[in-house]
Amino acid sequence: MHPVDRPRRLRTDGVRPLVSETNLAASDLIAPVFVDATTDERVPIETMPGHERVPVDDAVARVEEIRETGVEAVILFGIPDSKDSDGSRAYADDGVVQRAIRAITAETDAYVVGDVCLCEYTDHGHCGVIEDTAETDPTLTVRNDETLPLLARTAVSQADAGADMVAPSAMTDGQVKAIRHALDEAGHEDVALLSYAAKYRSAFYGPFRDAADGAPAFGDRRHYQMDPANRREALREARIDVEEGADVLMVKPGLPYLDVVADLRREFDHPIAAYNVSGEYAMLHAAAEKGWLDLEDVAYESLLSLKRAGADLILTYFAEDVADRL
Ligand code: PBG
Repeated sequence: MHPVDRPRRLRTDGVRPLVSETNLAASDLIAPVFVDATTDERVPIETMPGHERVPVDDAVARVEEIRETGVEAVILFGIPDSKDSDGSRAYADDGVVQRAIRAITAETDAYVVGDVCLCEYTDHGHCGVIEDTAETDPTLTVRNDETLPLLARTAVSQADAGADMVAPSAMTDGQVKAIRHALDEAGHEDVALLSYAAKYRSAFYGPFRDAADGAPAFGDRRHYQMDPANRREALREARIDVEEGADVLMVKPGLPYLDVVADLRREFDHPIAAYNVSGEYAMLHAAAEKGWLDLEDVAYESLLSLKRAGADLILTYFAEDVADRL
């Protein structure tokens, strides 16, 4: 008896590319860049091999390196010169990210995204203004509505500096609306807004917190970031952000949440982004270092999987390496 259907006919080298359902291109990728106001030399990030914190003076050079691989978009994270309870260096005109954005937009054609959050800038490491009782009551740390104006100021200051897109990641309710309104009031109606719509409280952010020095000094983020147990809630979060004016919806982390990427793809016409986070990068590097996995292959397969699940664009620490190979 012959098999009735033979999918293997379409797996020869000649036809496989013709029937391939998913494509990965350098133009799908956004590369994260860490700009550090506390150093005049590049500092390697131990938990993220190949990545460094760069001084502001080196931000343009760093972005040019990325663009040489074919990746045209970057997202900036800042390590400020000082921290305080309100994270005021997040929205300072001469803040580390604002200075870097000015230099990068003046000297390159890169598409520049600013991450809008306070945790790298607050002395307590939380993503907003905290309750007086935060230290003793870890279930309630950040004051939602008092945080909104600070996020809006941060976004406007990045737009003033020349950012093409802002990306609020604080998981503050109403942040998209507050930021969109403030941008429009300030004459930045053309600055796009990428919302970290479904951002989970994930242990996969571990290496990033070392990289950007943004770990909470006490407690955790479980009362503002999403519970990893929840899938339907992601649709609710995304719907709110759409109504509030988000241009792009992001799921974060990526690989452990492919179901959520697929859900958002099906439910919304907006572009969907996925954040292939620091832990997803670090674990592949660690396994490759031991000789257990082929790094190039698993990196490529990771990003392809995010696209197959429905992501249009991907934020990833693999951007340069994968783009180089494409
Ligand atoms: C800031 C922020 C974080 C990440 C991106 N923006 C850390 C966090 O929420 O704890 C994590 C990115 C990564 O792990 O690659 N809120």
